[in-house]
Amino acid sequence: MTEILEAIGQKQLTQQERFEKTRTLVFPESSEACRQLAREVAELIESRQKSKENVVLGLATGSTPVPFYRELVRLHKKGLSFKNVITFNLDEYYGLTRDHPESYYRFMHDQLFDHIDIPAENIHIPDGTIPLDEVYDYCHGYEREIVEAGGLDLQILGIGRTGHIGFNEPGSAINSPTRMITLDRVTRADAAADFLGIANVPRSAITMGVGTIMKARRIVLMAWGGNKASIVREAVEGDVTDQISASFLQEHENAIFLIDAAASGRLTRVQHPWLVGSVNWTDAMIKRSVIWLAETVRSPILKLTDEDYNEHGVGELLATTNKKAYHVNIDVFNEVQHTITGWPGGKKGTENERRPERACPVQKNVLVLCPEPSDAIVGLAGTIDRLVEQEHNVTMVVQTSGNLRVRDVSARNFASVINEMAELAHGTGWENQKSYAESILNELDEKGEFGVDSALVRRLKGLILRGEARDAGEVCGLEESSQIRFLDLPFYETGRYRRFRLENEDIEVMKTILNDVKPHSIFATGHVGDPSSMQAMCFQAFKEAFEECSDEKWREDCFVWLYRGKDSPVSTHEIDMAVPMSPDQLEQKREAIRKFQSITGDEFESPTDNQLIAGNYDKLGMAEYEAIEAFERLL
Ligand code: GLP
Repeated sequence: MTEILEAIGQKQLTQQERFEKTRTLVFPESSEACRQLAREVAELIESRQKSKENVVLGLATGSTPVPFYRELVRLHKKGLSFKNVITFNLDEYYGLTRDHPESYYRFMHDQLFDHIDIPAENIHIPDGTIPLDEVYDYCHGYEREIVEAGGLDLQILGIGRTGHIGFNEPGSAINSPTRMITLDRVTRADAAADFLGIANVPRSAITMGVGTIMKARRIVLMAWGGNKASIVREAVEGDVTDQISASFLQEHENAIFLIDAAASGRLTRVQHPWLVGSVNWTDAMIKRSVIWLAETVRSPILKLTDEDYNEHGVGELLATTNKKAYHVNIDVFNEVQHTITGWPGGKKGTENERRPERACPVQKNVLVLCPEPSDAIVGLAGTIDRLVEQEHNVTMVVQTSGNLRVRDVSARNFASVINEMAELAHGTGWENQKSYAESILNELDEKGEFGVDSALVRRLKGLILRGEARDAGEVCGLEESSQIRFLDLPFYETGRYRRFRLENEDIEVMKTILNDVKPHSIFATGHVGDPSSMQAMCFQAFKEAFEECSDEKWREDCFVWLYRGKDSPVSTHEIDMAVPMSPDQLEQKREAIRKFQSITGDEFESPTDNQLIAGNYDKLGMAEYEAIEAFERLL
């Protein structure tokens, strides 16, 4: 096993890695990477303890380091002491007090400091409440403290979607010091769910500079999940640019990227392995390389020539398989063609090996898993509509209440309406409702703009979202109330984004629903997300429950289809089933999405991903559709 801290600084070790300008270690799962890094950091701490020295760690926030911190806490419970550890956090939102639930101060204490024996005076987190005219001196002082502590031995980093490290947004110079910065729009949008709406996300922050980070003796940048794959590639393989502050790590002698398989998806060695060395030409690899070739030379598959293959690094495929472009083209064309079906539940009377779904049983039990109430509508509204129309028994199961996404204004409106109805009824018989509405309004007032919702408010918000989910479901043909079920998985109800924790009872709830529906096919999502994301946790809960049901009869004949969320679009070669949509169906999907009026987030623009997929199929020479919903087959 490669030791992470030892691998730091080694570059371009193999031919495969030659496009990578910062050493990058890919682990199959983030949990494994975190376990190993935590063990190595523990060894560092203990070896310094022996020589009575301190370790100075630079720490990051965000969901990325959460599993790493959990590992450190676990090691502490087994005896590891943090008495000789000094920490400096990268950043803090400006304007947030320490007790704000989204302050990085609170985050670090919740995730790590409250569970280990680090002396309070060893902890340093930028103070977001410093008066404006003192910020400059304060930042200068923060730098000085790092130097006085002996400098950072190891800096832990995550990466934002703008490529930022800490909060060094595009434009940050390589020698930038600790300072106040303005947050990028993308960064604020990414934090919108945590803050219950983008309007609540602070506009500025205090962050260590790129220069401060670059002075660390060793740097480990972690990234998990498919939504980080593009920015990881740009930072590791692209040019060094102040537009992506993580790219500056290419200039550091001892920096390393620690990523999981999903985040490695766009690295050349993973995405285009034929460009970096010999590959095993499996059918999947052939499909992938031919689609890539067609996209690269902007040609339909059937028009690719031997020259195209040779001139773009795919000549080895023809040589190894001893085939002409013409034959390979036809094979791949047919394969892609056969992913297209208007019968996502299988077509009666057409036993065809090459169709994505089985014809039998003719009427299937279809389970659509929807982590938050809008996910399945955004992901597969058109497919749900077809499944219902083709007379399958469709059950949409909304896994969490999604109440954290509902805006205050919606809860306030609802409570105000009850209040006014009570007044119209002159109070008689409406006393309970009136006091309920008043409690809601009071609690909303008390918590203010940034406060945490009470259980009562969260419950109401969840119910509002249920109504919207039912309305949206109805647009897609789910007219019976029994066709939509709400699980309100317990892990979500008391948690906050980035800090959820799955428990056994969540798995049990999922098991009950699986055994109840006895599905022939399941549509699920969350498989490529950041492991701490809500969607990934819902997927995990499903996966564990599904595995625990392996002896059940229904499991013998169950397909699992995966759909994607907005953050990690599917690549054409990954698609196993493509369900076309007409312009009318796309409009209907938009209508369904518009039913979610109470939630925050920017995902409710038109479902352009579906049009992009259709455009990609068209360019490959397939039939031209208005839009396509795409699925990968898991099982
Ligand atoms: C914020 C933090 C960064 C962090 C980034 C990514 O911007 N300031 O330090 O790397 O978010 O967050 P996450 O790990 O949740 O994807």
